Amino acid sequence: MLREFDAMSKTQNLVLIAALALVAVLSTYTYFAKQSHNPYWYSAAQVSQGQQLFADHCAACHGAQAQGAQNWMQPDAIGNRPAPPLNGTGHAWHHSLADLANTISVGRGNMPAWQSKLSDAEIMAVLAWTQSQWPAPTYTAWSEANP
Ligand code: HEC
Repeated sequence: MLREFDAMSKTQNLVLIAALALVAVLSTYTYFAKQSHNPYWYSAAQVSQGQQLFADHCAACHGAQAQGAQNWMQPDAIGNRPAPPLNGTGHAWHHSLADLANTISVGRGNMPAWQSKLSDAEIMAVLAWTQSQWPAPTYTAWSEANP
């Protein structure tokens, strides 16, 4: 009886040790998988392409650092807004990537349409550069709101 009990508890111990080892391996794996996961949708190449495109086409209205027009929150007499910041301090981060790309393509208010001047890939590159200017917590909040 006692022997049987010993054998049982030995097996149980082995099962427990194996389970603990598995948990340790899995949590180490998850930890490193999280560490190495790149949370950004864009590549460094898109950011550098976008930087040039932004300087050429967008900076005149949105500012060299994408900081927006000074009075961007003041609509004009007919209700159009001046160019808002795209550097994460405005509300561009409330919009999904598709919405932002669409605004750039078709234009809005005093914002010209870009679809005949920029390819879809170029529009994505400009968005990549503007998002690379966002503070990390802003990008995180945006990507959680727009998975
Ligand atoms: C002639 C000035 C002008 C130029 C050039 C311009 N924009 Fe704009 N942009 C605006 C204005 C004005 C608005 C605000 C439109 C509105 O909401 O009525 C705007 C809005 C936007 C928005 C929406 C932001 C938000 O918070 O919803 C994005 C994105 C944007 N522009 C990107 C760009 C990009 C990228 C370029 C260059 C390819 C560019 N713009 C060039 C004037 C301009």
